[in-house]
Amino acid sequence: MIETVTDLARLRAIVAGWKRDGLRVGFVPTMGNLHAGHYSLVKLARQHADRIVSSVFVNPTQFGPNEDFTRYPRTPEADTTGLEQAGCDVLWLPTVESMYPFGVGLAANVHVPGVSALLEGAFRPGHFDGVCTVVSRLFNQVQPDVAAFGRKDYQQLAVIRQMVTDLAFPIEILGGEIVREGDGLAMSSRNQYLTAEIRPQATVIRRVLLAMREAYLAGATREQVEADGAAQLEAAGFQVDYAVVRLPDLGEPGNSHDGARVALVAAKLGSTRLIDNVEF
Ligand code: PAJ
Repeated sequence: MIETVTDLARLRAIVAGWKRDGLRVGFVPTMGNLHAGHYSLVKLARQHADRIVSSVFVNPTQFGPNEDFTRYPRTPEADTTGLEQAGCDVLWLPTVESMYPFGVGLAANVHVPGVSALLEGAFRPGHFDGVCTVVSRLFNQVQPDVAAFGRKDYQQLAVIRQMVTDLAFPIEILGGEIVREGDGLAMSSRNQYLTAEIRPQATVIRRVLLAMREAYLAGATREQVEADGAAQLEAAGFQVDYAVVRLPDLGEPGNSHDGARVALVAAKLGSTRLIDNVEF
């Protein structure tokens, strides 16, 4: 049976007990409204740990003033059942007051320079500060040996890895594969904002990413690939934030096409902002 914990002292007692028994502790942080993408991270973490803690916390500090904090979908019963089925042992449910004991306005802020400023960081100012601020707290609360994050949020994973190295968190970070719907759309809690009418259009993102990869591998310049990708998305009715080809660390590649790349897209369909990427 999964145990739901809302008290930090209780969480610490459980984890301390596991560690006394020599068990490895895995952690999967989430904002709830869980789907197969989240559950795949629980299963991944299970392969690297003996006990799993998952958190559900809709973190106010990572949402911009005009973003969807208040309407972000909250489905606690389904999340609890799904986590138990996926093999999670403890569901950690912090309150805003326990996460930010001095209030959000007086919270110690964790800022990771460089990679946080690019792409998502440019379109969502302060977003990664909020993510790092909450994930560093969650790491201190749970004290896991290993934590899993999805490659769907490619830049988030890169920012977290830099934070873990820089602040010397003794935690191994795992990157889980992107889980997709049958038609290729990357699973996301925000997909349900898409109306039935507009939903089929959302698959264009994945097709454009694959076309960008094809064109780049066939020798087209990065500039051409990015311009064509954005044009295809716009033609399909998207409002494009970015459609880019980057090095794995999100730096800009030079003229050489050798080595690993990642194509990343962020675009709005109606009022729904979607992100996806393809590594190659
Ligand atoms: P959330 O959007 O709930 O995502 C929780 C984790 O699930 C993240 O690591 C995310 O990358 C992963 N994930 C989401 N959709 C996925 C998919 N289709 N395939 C694979 N993994 C997927 O990301 C956050 O919450 C927050 O920023 C958080 C890290 C919890 C900090 O508040």
